[in-house]
Amino acid sequence: MVSKALLRLVSAINRRRMKLLLGIALVAYVASVWGNFVNMRSIQENGELKIESKIEEIVEPLREKIRDLEKSFTQKYPPVKFLSEKDRKRILITGGAGFVGSHLTDKLMMDGHEVTVVDNFFTGRKRNVEHWIGHENFELINHDVVEPLYIEVDQIYHLASPASPPNYMYNPIKTLKTNTIGTLNMLGLAKRVGARLLLASTSEVYGDPEVHPQSEDYWGHVNPIGPRACYDEGKRVAETMCYAYMKQEGVEVRVARIFNTFGPRMHMNDGRVVSNFILQALQGEPLTVYGSGSQTRAFQYVSDLVNGLVALMNSNVSSPVNLGNPEEHTILEFAQLIKNLVPLEEGLNKAIHYFRKELEYQANNQYIPKPKPARIKKGRTRHT
Ligand SMILES: NC(=O)c1ccc[n+]([C@@H]2O[C@H](COP(=O)([O-])OP(=O)(O)OC[C@H]3O[C@@H](n4cnc5c(N)ncnc54)[C@H](O)[C@@H]3O)[C@@H](O)[C@H]2O)c1
Repeated sequence: MVSKALLRLVSAINRRRMKLLLGIALVAYVASVWGNFVNMRSIQENGELKIESKIEEIVEPLREKIRDLEKSFTQKYPPVKFLSEKDRKRILITGGAGFVGSHLTDKLMMDGHEVTVVDNFFTGRKRNVEHWIGHENFELINHDVVEPLYIEVDQIYHLASPASPPNYMYNPIKTLKTNTIGTLNMLGLAKRVGARLLLASTSEVYGDPEVHPQSEDYWGHVNPIGPRACYDEGKRVAETMCYAYMKQEGVEVRVARIFNTFGPRMHMNDGRVVSNFILQALQGEPLTVYGSGSQTRAFQYVSDLVNGLVALMNSNVSSPVNLGNPEEHTILEFAQLIKNLVPLEEGLNKAIHYFRKELEYQANNQYIPKPKPARIKKGRTRHT
């Protein structure tokens, strides 16, 4: 009896111990699982923090660059006048990325008009108009005028054509197509949309003139099969087309016969006398004068030409108009002026400054042009 009661007591105590032990084991297990969980979380959080700071390290310089780009995009455009809807014109400039065209673009943009430049970049460059890219009044279209163009405009300045002998002789057939088919296309556009068209013609329509100076009623003296015919005859037929469209279709036309022009953005290696002299002077070479140097030339500064083009476009003069500097100088005088870098000659100075910058730019790009010979006149070559 006593031993049975004793056994029951012992087994009751063991059961209680067992329960206690099981309880402790459970608590220990839960505690260790919780500990692992907390540990893993802190490792994970640590890892996330490290990744975040790594990403931040990479992204911050990019953010900086975007801020810089945004700053440069909030562009310092040249100042533009505000024009009311009534006065603001939609203006197309073909060849607007070229020497004259880009200055005309500047003037018309600053006057507050909406300007569309069309250019195939044969001799023009985006650099010439890049300071307008992004402006709400400006558009640049890469297009060849030999193909038709459909656009709504009020005025067309038709300048597209290579202008210097090496450029227009490079591909005479293309020069002819640009001046004939290109001009037809622009006149067709002017007719369709009722725009006024100004043709940038040239003093070369007078050819090798027999009268000096040439007035607009002189018909010229051009060799139709000579090396310059693609340009001279191309411009002559372009003028003919303008007046045919005026008479037959009532298109308003203006014809500017442009004489020698110089200034920033002119082509450095176009073989013409001003660019040759400036290049040679800057490169420390003697200036080459063909013949006696007593032959005379007149050069107008590009901003004068641009003012003349705009005045002609907005005038009621529909007959051809010569645009040039009436003041003639001998070639020797020009050579002397450029050689001495005469400070009074503001226009020449600006052109010289531009050429210096271009030489620096091209030196960095490992290319320095040599001047091509100017159109050769009879006589011997002299160096000043
Ligand atoms: N600069 C002068 O001294 C002078 C003298 C007389 C006449 N002009 C006339 O003035 C105009 C402009 O001359 P510039 O000196 O600025 O010459 P440029 O070569 O600098 O400009 C001509 C522009 O026309 C573009 N162009 C040529 N063919 C084209 C085509 N098929 N389609 C679209 N664009 C084309 C060229 O890429 C270039 O941007 C020309 O028509 C030229 O005959 C200039």
